[in-house]
Amino acid sequence: MHYYAVVCSQQSIYYAPLANVETEKMDALQNQILKLKEEKNAVILGHNYQRKEVQEISDFLGDSFGLSVQASKTEASVIVFCGVDFMAESAKILNPEKMVLHPNLKSKCPMAGMVDVKSLRELKAEHPGAPVVSYVNTSADVKAETDICCTSANAVKIVQSLPDEKIIFVPDTNLGLYIQRFVKDKEMIFWPGYCPTHMNIKKDDLVKLRTEHPGAEILVHPECTPEIIDYADYAFSTEGIIRHIQASAKNEFIIGTESNMLHRLRRESPGKVFYEVPNATCPNMREISLEDVRDSLTRIQYKIELPTDIIRKARVPLERMIKAGR
Ligand code: 13P
Ligand code: SF4
Repeated sequence: MHYYAVVCSQQSIYYAPLANVETEKMDALQNQILKLKEEKNAVILGHNYQRKEVQEISDFLGDSFGLSVQASKTEASVIVFCGVDFMAESAKILNPEKMVLHPNLKSKCPMAGMVDVKSLRELKAEHPGAPVVSYVNTSADVKAETDICCTSANAVKIVQSLPDEKIIFVPDTNLGLYIQRFVKDKEMIFWPGYCPTHMNIKKDDLVKLRTEHPGAEILVHPECTPEIIDYADYAFSTEGIIRHIQASAKNEFIIGTESNMLHRLRRESPGKVFYEVPNATCPNMREISLEDVRDSLTRIQYKIELPTDIIRKARVPLERMIKAGR
């Protein structure tokens, strides 16, 4: 809602936009959060899919890999993790002595919920000796059953680095199939997991956008289906998409991933033009509001707590992943 006021000066009288109530409310909340953050010696880590206003108060924005690295080296006493559950858990696993707050417990990744320890143990028993590579989009107890984690930023590199001929890869089949394009000499056992958001990206929509914007490059996430990856120009992690755009001489891009990414892209590459793919929203990532972040810092909620033995076991595959790099 916009309000207009008559502004009088000695020379003239004119109408000027004065304030937007929603914007004022957000600015006030953001300032309150920044103050609380200082008081509590907290750092706010935000995923690239967070709402625009949450991105704006994050100390670090990034993909799952970048945020894990930030979490592992932060000197703050409190980490407020604005991302889905498994990301906040990873921050706790990497910093067991620190307080990790997840501002909204409804922010859960459905893909991470598609694999459980019992079924994974059964799969391991069917393929004795095959190492388990888990996408970070998994729970802490699945990580505790894992040999090495990966993110979309380093999945190919990590699978390539393993000496084994057979690998169990959980839970994202699409990411697994993407890896297999580059790793031909290994048998990969997949899990029937998927990301509902990236499954919503349809080829017809990309074809339409390409027809409307023939000069635009199509960039997608490796959680998309093989058909989408084949049609796109490139597939990258969210941070990979940002880096590619910054280094590219091109001016127009069709972004085949969660559409909140476009806020960061537009802020950091203001001279470039971005087109949003329809229906690419992750409601789970959008759960976290500024009010939730404020409440997490005032009420100290919701603390991530994990059993010590799970932390000890899950830390090994996460640290191996960080050591392997991007
Ligand atoms: P990135 O690691 O590429 O940011 O992806 C995380 C995610 O959840 C994608 O859906
Ligand atoms: Fe999970 Fe997909 Fe949402 Fe990423 S976009 S958090 S993989 S549901």
